[in-house]
Formats: sequence, C-alpha cells, structure tokens
Amino acid sequence: MQKKINCVILASGNGSNALNLIRKFHTDTKDADAVEDRNITCNINISAVVSNIENAPVIEKVRLAAPDIPVFFLPYASVSEREYFEKELESIIRKYNINCIVLAGFMRILSKEFVSKFHNKIINIHPSLLPAFKGKDAIKSAFDYGVKYTGVTVHYVTPEVDAGPVICQEVVKIEENDTLESLELKIHDMEHKIYPAALKKIFA
Ligand code: GAR
Repeated sequence: MQKKINCVILASGNGSNALNLIRKFHTDTKDADAVEDRNITCNINISAVVSNIENAPVIEKVRLAAPDIPVFFLPYASVSEREYFEKELESIIRKYNINCIVLAGFMRILSKEFVSKFHNKIINIHPSLLPAFKGKDAIKSAFDYGVKYTGVTVHYVTPEVDAGPVICQEVVKIEENDTLESLELKIHDMEHKIYPAALKKIFA
C-alpha cells in the first residue's frame, strides 16, 4: 500500500486555498459541492490546519466544511511569538505524523532553523511568477506595475523568502479591461487549479 502523506495546512486569512485543498483531498468533507471531487483519490491526507490569527475566517470555514479535521490557533503576529509558534507546531507535526507542511496564505516568515529542519517538506503558493513580485500584496504590485502577464508559483520553502525551487508555475494574462478585483479572482482560480495538481505531482 502507498504511504500516506499527512499534511498540515498553515493559513492566516480567508482560507480559499485551504478549503480548496480540503475539498480535493479530504474525503469526509461536509461540503456538498465537493462530491464531484471525491473521485480524486490519492495518498494525500489533510491531518490538521493551523492559523496564526485567532479570528481568521479560515478557522471557521474549515470547522464547518470538515469538522473532523483538527484546527489550531497558534499566535504568531510579531517576531517575538515565532519561537512559541514553531515549538507548538512541531508538537502537532509529531502528534499527527506530519510529513508535509503546506502554506496556504500563511503570511508569516518561518525561522531558518525551522525551514532547515523540514528541508523539502514545506511547500508554498505565491500569487506571482517568482522571482517577480516577491513578498506581500504581489497581485496588486503586478497590477500597479502594469505587467501584461503575471501568474502563480508553487515552490519549496527555503530560508530565503519566496526563493525556493519552483515546483510549477502558471501564467495569468492581464487584459486591458481587468481591474485589481478581476485579476485577484483570476489568480485565485488559477491557484485553486494548480495547488492540488502540484501536490499530486509531488506525491504521486
Ligand atoms: C493567496 O493568493 C496566496 O497565494 C497568498 O495569499 C493568498 C491567500 O488566499 N500568499 C502569499 O501571498 C504568500 N506570500 P486564501 O487565504 O484565500 O487562500
């Protein structure tokens, strides 16, 4: 039998990527719309979700969609909280036999020590064609710059922020009539396609 890949999702905000991964990979989801996705069988298991923001929408959304997935709030707003966050996260990783850490809109930086300890086991999605538009507000930065093409990157996390080896990338064209809002929708749609596909590719 194939080895199960147990993932923990880290998220800070809205949670559309976290929810999408749960719909794709968690067969017990209570989300009726996910029924059509249930034939996507693979060895990826969403074992837990962690948010660093207490009232982030992702927490409630995951609890409603998949009440059997444990959801944790571990405070990490300022750098002073990072050590505690990473220590508690490591306990969760041990408890649930986690072998992959999936960042889905996780807006904090993990320490070099933590990233090195989990070398090639931390994966991130970023809303631009890296190495362009690293950091926060990448969709707006690309829109404001006036590039004609932007996109989405899935990559391994390394100690240098938004710089790890690329797993996959997809281009999103910015049309003349696009607004920031319409571009955000296009980027999120693309993210919801390529993140599950990238994880399946890695763990197939
Ligand atoms: C996504 O667009 C993701 O690529 C981005 O945050 C958004 C989270 O949306 N991540 C980064 O910018 C990381 N540098 P979601 O909460 O709806 O999944």
